[in-house]
Amino acid sequence: MSNTTLMMIKPDALENGHIGNILEKVTSAGFRIKALKLTQLTVNDAESFYRVHKERPFFGELVNFMTRGPIVAAILEKENAVSDFRTLIGSTNPAEAAEGTLRKLYASSMGENAVHGSDSDENAAIEASFYFSQRERF
Ligand code: CMP
Repeated sequence: MSNTTLMMIKPDALENGHIGNILEKVTSAGFRIKALKLTQLTVNDAESFYRVHKERPFFGELVNFMTRGPIVAAILEKENAVSDFRTLIGSTNPAEAAEGTLRKLYASSMGENAVHGSDSDENAAIEASFYFSQRERF
């Protein structure tokens, strides 16, 4: 089991001024920030990052949303990082997310759901390499 996961704070959360609150909750939950950047995805970037979803009906909407403004990307470190971070962010649909989770607090819909967390150790490694070189990791 790996001890890192990849987080994105999505454009909706930045537009609504939630970067600071989200980072505070993430570090308070015991995650260490190993890498961090503010960046904006191009359409090519988003299509590549989300290629597993390219046949899904929401793919175009997802790419539009994820490219419409800056995001924060981070590698987070903690024992059992992938699973514990998915618990912290809550269900994809904020209406079904548990009280106190990041999506319950900050997301507005299934599409615009404020925060991303990797769904497996394998994807955490792929997604971390998408955003960060080795020299950007501490
Ligand atoms: P995330 O789990 O971070 O990565 C896949 C994204 O696709 C998901 O967040 C949502 O932003 C989006 N998504 C998943 N299901 C739907 C849906 N039914 N309608 C719109 N967007 C979706």
